[in-house]
Amino acid sequence: MSFKEELQNRVNHIEEVISAFLPEETGYQKTVLEAMNYSVMAGGKRLRPMLMEECFKLFGGQGEIIKPFMAALEMIHNYSLVHDDLPAMDNDEYRRGRKTTWTVYGDGMAVLAGDGLLNLAYETAAKGFDMVKDADGYRRMAGAMQILGRKAGVYGMIGGQTADIEAEDGKSLLTEEVLLFIHENKTAALIQAAMMIGAILAGAGEEDVALMERVAYNIGIAFQIQDDILDVTSTTEVLGKPVGSDEKNHKLTYVTLKGLDASRCEVERLSKEAMKILADLQRKEGNIANAFLIELVESLITREK
Ligand code: IPE
Ligand code: IPE
Ligand code: MG
Ligand code: MG
Ligand code: MG
Repeated sequence: MSFKEELQNRVNHIEEVISAFLPEETGYQKTVLEAMNYSVMAGGKRLRPMLMEECFKLFGGQGEIIKPFMAALEMIHNYSLVHDDLPAMDNDEYRRGRKTTWTVYGDGMAVLAGDGLLNLAYETAAKGFDMVKDADGYRRMAGAMQILGRKAGVYGMIGGQTADIEAEDGKSLLTEEVLLFIHENKTAALIQAAMMIGAILAGAGEEDVALMERVAYNIGIAFQIQDDILDVTSTTEVLGKPVGSDEKNHKLTYVTLKGLDASRCEVERLSKEAMKILADLQRKEGNIANAFLIELVESLITREK
């Protein structure tokens, strides 16, 4: 099977997993439920649940416990995008080739759909408690819940989005340090959550979980630099979201700070370093070789959307 086919199979599988945890659109709150499902089922690369499951497999994880966390993280990712697109934030009207949630349902409903997804995410992840039987299982669950909360919150994604807004229009000093803070938190944090939770639920030790945090840092920073490159070089048709959004909002990006060539080099450098660590980990006793995971990281270097 080609990498492309393997990737598509995984996307299909992930969408099945997520769908099983999404709400039915009934009751007096039907509109917000529709808006939540509209956002989550709009396509997307499903990178975070994919990385989570592949890391789970790398550390020999088995069983269903990973599923509620895969769905939960994708809900959090989508809530972050619903809010990110709002007029009060990036003010964007297209995502994944469709109208953004606020454009279809209005700002108020989009705020609530994001809030709804965030709450449902933790309710969903906590379903994992019903699936464990022993103290070890409870310990892993507790560790995974903590990482999910931390990396999505003010010491993770929300913290990064805060600095991102403040970096607009020179509201704060535009240094490389600030930029790295923004990338690490707004983007790498959820990727770290994915890879660390996969490892934790598989029973990986502290050292290996820390290594996944490190690998995911690289992948996350590279991922956001590539996002910023594509915002300049791509087209709306290919990207499915508006190009030039960063310029419109006077965003601080790697491209504005270092230029396109240096940005491309940095994506490659960070990704190759991540691939090297993953390749070494595969050879470690007790771990299961996962060639797909390495190919997936490599494919992100040249991704076009
Ligand atoms: C978009 O994330 C937001 C960033 C962190 C750059 P993705 O590029 O993973 O979005 P989808 O889910 O595939 O649409
Ligand atoms: C958003 O970064 C990261 C989030 C936490 C949502 P961007 O604002 O660059 O993401 P896009 O380009 O809108 O997907
Ligand atoms: Mg943004
Ligand atoms: Mg945006
Ligand atoms: Mg962007």
